[in-house]
Amino acid sequence: MNLDKNRLTSKVWLITGCSTGFGRALAEAVLKKGNCLLATARKPEQLRALIDQYPNTAKAVRLDVTLSQERQAAVDAAIQTFGRIDVLVNNAGYGLIGALEEVSDSDIRQAFETNFFGAVHLTQTVLPLMRQQGRGHIVNMSSTAGLVGFGGSSIYCATKFAVEGMSEALAKEVESFGIKITLIEPGAFRTNFNGRSLSTAEQVVNAYDSVSRASLQWFKDMDGQQPGNPAKAAQAIIQAVESPNPPMRLALGTDAMSLIQDKLESVKTGLEDWQQVTVSTDYADSQAIAR
Ligand SMILES: NC(=O)c1ccc[n+]([C@@H]2O[C@H](COP(=O)([O-])OP(=O)(O)OC[C@H]3O[C@@H](n4cnc5c(N)ncnc54)[C@H](OP(=O)(O)O)[C@@H]3O)[C@@H](O)[C@H]2O)c1
Repeated sequence: MNLDKNRLTSKVWLITGCSTGFGRALAEAVLKKGNCLLATARKPEQLRALIDQYPNTAKAVRLDVTLSQERQAAVDAAIQTFGRIDVLVNNAGYGLIGALEEVSDSDIRQAFETNFFGAVHLTQTVLPLMRQQGRGHIVNMSSTAGLVGFGGSSIYCATKFAVEGMSEALAKEVESFGIKITLIEPGAFRTNFNGRSLSTAEQVVNAYDSVSRASLQWFKDMDGQQPGNPAKAAQAIIQAVESPNPPMRLALGTDAMSLIQDKLESVKTGLEDWQQVTVSTDYADSQAIAR
């Protein structure tokens, strides 16, 4: 590949799930700003038109994040083509509607394979390189559902809560290597999420109609009407990555803002209401310990 002068000053991004939605919008914005991009998708032919516009700075490869050989091949392709990876965006993911009693073991494991383990293993593949580079930024697509539990989405929320916990701890593990971690927590955005990326539990338990079917209906009714604009989300993510002091968490959308504020308030209230009980369980002679 005949890389242009930009290569020396621009960043090299690797983004998962670039076919539609956030991944597509971010891929377009990153390239437009003169960066290099290893764009990945399960069907890379869907990226052809985009790649053709940026023959010197973009390359597309196939990546199903659940497949270990494809994860390694994508990282190898980025290194071979651009020599490094500055920003990894673990964006690929899908929704699962169903109360806990309705989801099968296979529903649960598939959701975790993509939304959690896909991000975990790709991060593990990229970290040795970033440590060697002495810098890097990993952006993990969480959700408002990574901080707030929504009835009818228990397993989807669990996958995103897992991404949150892993990322928060990872940030502390890799800080000294110059590697930054940012969690993106969008509210409802106008992508394909409410349509083809929304799966439903294998079985229906009618007792949960008022949570699961109501939630599915909410997503269907909202499809195409979501307040969030993915192109603006892409600009916000780039702004966070380019910041000298990037945020650990970036909530996106006014709905995300108020849902997360309510959650913080309820955690604070619960802690205060039960404070006497909380602090009553130490040994009498114990010293406070810091971690
Ligand atoms: N839109 C929202 O309201 C919202 C809110 C909060 C968080 N999110 C999160 O945002 C991320 C992107 O979703 P989106 O809203 O942009 O929806 P989208 O337009 O449906 O895009 C989902 C992307 O994930 C890809 N994907 C799914 N499974 C994959 C796998 N195993 N390997 C590789 N790629 C895979 C899809 O690829 P294919 O084309 O091959 O299916 C597609 O590119 C997800 O992690 C989602 O949880 C979305």
